[in-house]
Amino acid sequence: MRTIRVNASRSYNILVGSGLLGSIDRLARPFCAGRSVVLVSDDNVAPLYGEAVRERLEQAGARVLSYTVPHGEHSKCIAEYERLLEFMCVNHISRSDVMAALGGGVVGDLTGFAAATYQRGIGYIQIPTSLLAAVDSSVGGKTAVNLEHGKNQAGCFHQPLAVLCDTDFLNTLPEEEYRCGSAEVIKYAVIGDSVFFDSLLLQPIREQTEYVIEKCVAMKRDLVARDEFDRGDRMLLNLGHTFGHAVEACSGYTVLHGQAVAMGMAAVSRAAEKMGVCEKGTAKAVETILTQYGLPTETDYPLDDMLEAALSDKKSDGSTVRLIVPERIGRCRIEPVTPAQLREWMKAGGVK
Ligand code: GLY
Repeated sequence: MRTIRVNASRSYNILVGSGLLGSIDRLARPFCAGRSVVLVSDDNVAPLYGEAVRERLEQAGARVLSYTVPHGEHSKCIAEYERLLEFMCVNHISRSDVMAALGGGVVGDLTGFAAATYQRGIGYIQIPTSLLAAVDSSVGGKTAVNLEHGKNQAGCFHQPLAVLCDTDFLNTLPEEEYRCGSAEVIKYAVIGDSVFFDSLLLQPIREQTEYVIEKCVAMKRDLVARDEFDRGDRMLLNLGHTFGHAVEACSGYTVLHGQAVAMGMAAVSRAAEKMGVCEKGTAKAVETILTQYGLPTETDYPLDDMLEAALSDKKSDGSTVRLIVPERIGRCRIEPVTPAQLREWMKAGGVK
């Protein structure tokens, strides 16, 4: 088992390993003993792991209340959030009780936001079951739900008590979900580590899961330690996300987050090369690795729709969007662009 310590406004451990489920009683006991735990999951994950995790939490001395939401991005909404809070209220969950998010990014973000706001904030544990959640969304305390007019528009920072990541959970992950997680892994490599990038080309993520999760999480730990509240370097983690969130919005959230981020990374890399801010061959390298992992590199949503969606994203402050652009594999920078410049970047990335 690997342990990564995150130092933020609340410091905590991320534990990664095969067979970790068997130790959840011991690992969760300090946070759960003698308390109620609201165990949130979705209808894909709960039938697979809900009972096993529930038993372990009970062995840790908790009274467990299981709560299941429908799987998919549509559950990351105000209506589900409200239902969850009401459930907690009628079950007399108090400020000393905790929540546990068993699932992927949707469950983690929804549970985190409920924990952050219920009675002005209670503790929660992340138990990621997808690659995307393991390498990114379960770490760093970003919590949110979507509004009708934008992704993650209602949210706050609320660090978890711990992240417990059993890599065996990934064995039952549908192929498409695995690919989506791979997009986020590739993102880390493009942002900050060309050697890691090469290792992903040479050896599939599946064959080095524990190492990959530790590597990504360690990079995120460093960014979160420097910039917990996303005002500076942490924004680098948004590589591919400005275009990607626009793709998600244009598709009515039928394009999965990881697929959209892949398209976004490819497009912004092509644009960066055309704009002369990035080393020649970078876009090709990004497209090659994305294709190798079965991820898309093009989008055909119209430019005007993409631009409008990107400008209503929260990475825009109305006059400036902080676009993350590669300079070469392993190095990216934050480029503040006006809406007119963003249009040019999108065009240069191949959006028509
Ligand atoms: N998922 C990007 C971040 O946590 O900052």
